[in-house]
Amino acid sequence: VRVAVELRRAYRLLNHGPATLVSAAHGSRHNVMAAQWVMPLDFDPPKLAVVVAADTFTRGLIEASGQLCVSLPTVGMADLVWAVGSASSAEVDKLERFHVATTQASKVTAPLIDGCVAWLECEVRPDVALARDHDLFIVEVVAAWADSDVWDGRELHFEGHPEKRTLHHVARGTFFATGERVKANEPG
Ligand SMILES: Cc1cc2nc3c(=O)[nH]c(=O)nc-3n(C[C@H](O)[C@H](O)[C@H](O)COP(=O)(O)O)c2cc1C
Repeated sequence: VRVAVELRRAYRLLNHGPATLVSAAHGSRHNVMAAQWVMPLDFDPPKLAVVVAADTFTRGLIEASGQLCVSLPTVGMADLVWAVGSASSAEVDKLERFHVATTQASKVTAPLIDGCVAWLECEVRPDVALARDHDLFIVEVVAAWADSDVWDGRELHFEGHPEKRTLHHVARGTFFATGERVKANEPG
């Protein structure tokens, strides 16, 4: 079940460094690409740093719409992540080609990618120099969702749902799956 995540806790969906799918839409065009370089930047309002290279088709949709979605794919979606991270939609619509099902987001036009375990709807805080010089987009999370199998309202937990673990890209289609949970003792 997809449940709303409190915005001030949205950073917790990305704190463990998962590979993501970044989607965007503008006019009649929509797209999805793989993105590992997505990280939390602030608690409240929640902001993210997202690197989107200038030569991607997704970049144009993000700049035109001022919006994007970040979805967290599961281990079973490694082939899809690699596929949408290797091919560009400049020539062929990847959502169609790879049969990617989507759901309409609540606050942005960018689609949520089905089968994922968490989703962050984001609005771009425009900064021309950051985009031009570093391919960097600062975005504000305006809505966040997670699969209630792995989100207890406070934290991600993958115990009992190994198939819902997230991916962590190493290089060239090699990933790690989210590892063991380690809980530190209170200091002192
Ligand atoms: C696992 C993975 C992670 C990636 N991370 C990023 C990233 O953080 N930023 C980026 O600009 N491209 C990243 N890429 C490359 C884009 O996904 C790739 O250029 C894609 O083809 C762009 O698609 P588009 O032209 O249809 O937008 C990644 C690729 C893979 C496979």
